[in-house]
Amino acid sequence: VGDQLLEALAAAVGAGHVLADDDRRARFEVDWTGRFRGRARAVVRPADAAEVAAVLAACRAHGAAVVPQGGNTGMVGASVPRGGEVVLSLARLRDLGAVDTAAAQVQAGAGVTLAEVQAQARAAGLDAGVDLGSRDSATVGGLAATDAGGTHAMRYGTVRARVAGVQAVLADGTIVDRPPLLKDNAGFDLSALLIGSEGTLAVITGVRWRLVPLLTSRVAALVPLPSLEDAAALLAAIRPRLATTLHAADFFLDEGLQLVLDHDGLPAPVRTRTPVYVLLECADRHDPTPDLAEALEDAGIADAVVADDSAERRRLWRFREGHAEAIAAAGIPHKLDVGVPLARLPEFAARARDEIARVAPGARPVIFGHLGDGNVHVNVLGPDPDDDAVDEAVLRLAAACGGTISAEHGVGVAKARWLSLTRPPGELRAMAQIKRALDPDGTLNPGAVFDPTAG
Ligand code: FAD
Ligand code: MLT
Ligand code: ZN
Repeated sequence: VGDQLLEALAAAVGAGHVLADDDRRARFEVDWTGRFRGRARAVVRPADAAEVAAVLAACRAHGAAVVPQGGNTGMVGASVPRGGEVVLSLARLRDLGAVDTAAAQVQAGAGVTLAEVQAQARAAGLDAGVDLGSRDSATVGGLAATDAGGTHAMRYGTVRARVAGVQAVLADGTIVDRPPLLKDNAGFDLSALLIGSEGTLAVITGVRWRLVPLLTSRVAALVPLPSLEDAAALLAAIRPRLATTLHAADFFLDEGLQLVLDHDGLPAPVRTRTPVYVLLECADRHDPTPDLAEALEDAGIADAVVADDSAERRRLWRFREGHAEAIAAAGIPHKLDVGVPLARLPEFAARARDEIARVAPGARPVIFGHLGDGNVHVNVLGPDPDDDAVDEAVLRLAAACGGTISAEHGVGVAKARWLSLTRPPGELRAMAQIKRALDPDGTLNPGAVFDPTAG
């Protein structure tokens, strides 16, 4: 007898877009970090929203769970199967509309990458307002599903702020598609509910993206500093001065810089190494360099490396953006993406180091992140992928410092067990009720966000 689910999926999308063989499924079954993997029943590649609805109907009819997948750059294990699910790849939803310059919006299919949205926007004199290291692979659908942050969130907000509306397919096959209006408050905003829902409430098929002005004059400055306390103080000193131009303020430590230098074979960007580096970037229509230089001088900074042409800026950003790749090359990391109030960031980083040494002696922490957002990436090399002790210790500490267990990567399967650290029981109950209302059979991304072991 044939496999009825596979036959139904083939009827929905065409047999050529149902990948059932081991070798064709393989790249969809392991996440970017290599920590999370599972066998998929099949990978399906629909071409449009109607085919997505048909796939969901087939899966529901055969009791199969579905894991939506975009660029598979997610960091919390929720884009790959845990075992036996159908992977629903949105990679073929690649329509990218012309920019509506009057509305400053562009319509993009779920499978369009961030770099493609950026290029389309820039060609029309506008910009995407979001940037991150995975720009060439991360998709519009994945970015919206995770409410991604990135390096410009301090100026433009997270992806949530960029979304004028989403098109999506609900678990029961309903296609949600509101008119492309900035103002539309006729009823609940289902788009808002789906942003950050990590594939657990609906499958996003497209996004109406809100664009920002294109600011072509840019300057970056790498500031070497003695401590994270100095980094926080620097940000407090310059932010009011650069309120209309500062769009990035990231940080990394000397241990991370060394990893990147070793991995890329690059010379150090500074003559005298220091424990902490802050990477600032300003963007404006007019050259923001004099304002940045003056603000740094007034803050007592004499030895920043300033880059005002694009090749030099890219070189400086490589030291920061190269962290993810250099860490992955050194092993399978435990990636903990937390947020803490900026004032407590130095304390959090010091205590995280102590906690990691306590629960996993010999483990190697690499700490970096988005200073302007209080967003700390604690990466830990050494412990087994299945050993959760460092994860738990760092997430508990973030919560104890008045922070969140997930700033920008999402909860996924990696942190589902600890969501109650930062969300009270009443809120968890409301979330579970929404999940049940939209996905009563639990078809969409089971095990992500909601703790599967909770009663
Ligand atoms: P996937 O990884 O495929 O999926 C992520 C989640 O979204 C999963 O839960 C999946 O089920 C769900 N999903 C995907 N598509 C859909 C859809 N169409 N409908 C419903 N659910 C869907 N993240 C940041 O926030 N900031 C950063 O600075 C950043 N930098 C990164 C740098 C590197 C080098 C890498 C590898 C990753 C980085 N990330 C960052 C993480 C990642 O790129 C983002 O989470 C991104 O939004 C994921 O997009 P994706 O298309 O790859 O989604
Ligand atoms: C980053 O800021 O580089 C990313 O969020 C990716 C990571 O945490 O590795
Ligand atoms: Zn990040």
